[in-house]
Amino acid sequence: MDDAVIKKPIVIPDDWPGYSLELFSYPEHYHEDIDSVYIPHGVIMNRVERLARYVMDDFGDSIVVLCVLKGGYKFCVDLVEFIKVLGRNSNKYLETRVEFIRLKSYLNDQSTEELQIIGSRDLSFLRGKSVLIVEAIVDTGKTMKALLKHVETFEPKMVKVAGLLVKRVPNMAEDLTDYVGFEIPNHFVVGYALDYNEYFRDLNHICVISKIGKMKYKEQSNG
Ligand code: HPA
Ligand code: MG
Repeated sequence: MDDAVIKKPIVIPDDWPGYSLELFSYPEHYHEDIDSVYIPHGVIMNRVERLARYVMDDFGDSIVVLCVLKGGYKFCVDLVEFIKVLGRNSNKYLETRVEFIRLKSYLNDQSTEELQIIGSRDLSFLRGKSVLIVEAIVDTGKTMKALLKHVETFEPKMVKVAGLLVKRVPNMAEDLTDYVGFEIPNHFVVGYALDYNEYFRDLNHICVISKIGKMKYKEQSNG
């Protein structure tokens, strides 16, 4: 069978309303700020476990995981944890080193022009290594393309990208992401470390932000 077929993401259709909030528990302080539980935490975890299996199958015996902060931190922690568990329960142990890079390209719910690499720009430790970039969300792929270009300058042996979410936007990035958790419609989502102006990282489900939430946590552009 074709690899691409085996690694199909879970596709969330445009008309998926999410689960009603009262069916789940979530931080009380957000009760007006989200419309629905879009992807429950348990489902995220089960899917991340499956992605960890793909990674185990594709990589040799060691990888450098490059976690894209801040949004990627939950996904990264859980993915690496599942890789360790799978290793303990099989005879293939994947040695993982975790490194962090910080990017910023969003203000409110809008992508800004400039990609800023805020964390360490010197990634020379990637030379000759098998690298897995771990990112929470990929939409147009502009950020990911810029990051890939930067990473390639350090001459790693191989680079793959894990994206928990890929958004169906016009000019959607095809083929940039090797491991995709969920393909979602073009909604602004928060939770599981995804933020809106730094809020909602403390929500464990992935949720759709409400109009009230957008207003309440809005920031002014200083550009
Ligand atoms: N949520 C949070 N951060 C993001 C998103 C999103 O939907 N898209 C790009 N960055
Ligand atoms: Mg953000």
